[in-house]
Amino acid sequence: MAADLIVGLQWGDEGKGKIVDLVAKHYDIVVRSQGGHNAGHTVVIGDKKYALHLMPSGILNDNAINVIANGVVVSPAKIIEEMEKFGDMKGRLFISDKATMLLDYHAQIDQAKEKLRGKNAIGTTGRGIGPAYADKITRTALRIGDLLDIDNALEKLEDYFEMNKGYFEYLGINIPSLDDMRNELQGYQDKLGELITDTTKLLWDNIDKNILLEGAQATLLDIDHGTYPYVTSSNTIASGALTGSAIPPKQLKKVIGIAKAYLTRVGNGPFITEDFGKDGEYIREKGFEFGTTTGRPRRCGWFDAIAGKYAVTLNSCDEIALMKLDVLDGLKEVKVCVAYENEKGEQIDYFPTNLDGLKPVYKTFAGWDKSAGVTKFEELPKNAQEYILALEKLINCPIKYIATGAKRDETVIR
Ligand code: GDP
Ligand code: IMO
Ligand code: MG
Repeated sequence: MAADLIVGLQWGDEGKGKIVDLVAKHYDIVVRSQGGHNAGHTVVIGDKKYALHLMPSGILNDNAINVIANGVVVSPAKIIEEMEKFGDMKGRLFISDKATMLLDYHAQIDQAKEKLRGKNAIGTTGRGIGPAYADKITRTALRIGDLLDIDNALEKLEDYFEMNKGYFEYLGINIPSLDDMRNELQGYQDKLGELITDTTKLLWDNIDKNILLEGAQATLLDIDHGTYPYVTSSNTIASGALTGSAIPPKQLKKVIGIAKAYLTRVGNGPFITEDFGKDGEYIREKGFEFGTTTGRPRRCGWFDAIAGKYAVTLNSCDEIALMKLDVLDGLKEVKVCVAYENEKGEQIDYFPTNLDGLKPVYKTFAGWDKSAGVTKFEELPKNAQEYILALEKLINCPIKYIATGAKRDETVIR
């Protein structure tokens, strides 16, 4: 076998962690290929809840090997903190020598720039993701492999600080001393050194095993294809998972798209189906829609089938996992956006570059109660079944999984 991918189809927090955990038992290797600790993937096993940020969700499955591949921006401090919760990592976690190193000054730059943007702020997680990717693209970043030769890493850092000192000063950020950086990098080398690997070779050597690519963020946050500039700084779509992991394109077998039965967004930017009324509030409270990484309340609204169809095509999804159906239990009516209407009153059935001024055209479905915890499609309330069958048609992809609760077994598999 080759690689399968789990990818978010909306603005993140769809429940990717739950599905990765659900299917992880079928895989030998779980790979993170983009993003960084801006991600927050929640896995609930029995009464225990884990929030994973950089660590692939395969860590909760004893038999899986976990890989943080080249496309990830890795904060050594953060991965060390996460590793400490899971015991000895030797042989269980491999970190690419080509992955970009994210250091504390990246987070400081991120936060300072957000402040400067004022009301035009992106609403980033403040973790330094954008500045770390910017350094990668301008070819001035340290890579994780640089931890293996600290003298050389410090020479690069000295040049970097020299080149950027005006910028740091402008943003009010202190440049750390090279002595402090030596100590910091040495500490990282001590804890991570034996995990640093050429993960390209590792994955190619194991290409006949079952590999699962765990997407972070989601399609509408993609740097090229999302709602720019209100996006993250990586390619979050299926092709980004390939670049970010070195899995050869023809080795990608199945793409599982993850979407909530409604829609949320954390951070700023357009959101055509946002509901500012009591239904949006109901969904936020019932779905506990508060960020796993930053605790911010998530903006809530209705399923956008135009964005959904766009995401299914961009990722060439084979099947969908529809999440958090239970959160809609108890609503009188459930709406789905089936077209956008522009200022001239024309209807649009595709996801355009610019969403400004577009209004949702809704199809309304009768609500239902008691989908929570159901594990068989036939046992779902009739109206919920109708809703799911309609979504399948609208986004043109089979819905294979339906999640009816946060726990592993609260899932319908069709
Ligand atoms: P991810 O970033 O895509 O992995 O998603 P998050 O973990 O950030 O957010 C999803 C949240 O929804 C987590 O708190 C999950 O435990 C929870 N969750 C996942 N699936 C379901 C579901 O079907 N029903 C309910 N009620 N909660 C769910
Ligand atoms: P998971 O993997 C939801 C959002 C931020 C902000 C924008 C840019 O848990 O689904 P960044 O810090 O990446 O520069 O912020 O992207 N964002 C997410 N929203 N889920 C995530 O990850 C996100 N990662 C980033 O809120 O709007
Ligand atoms: Mg999340």
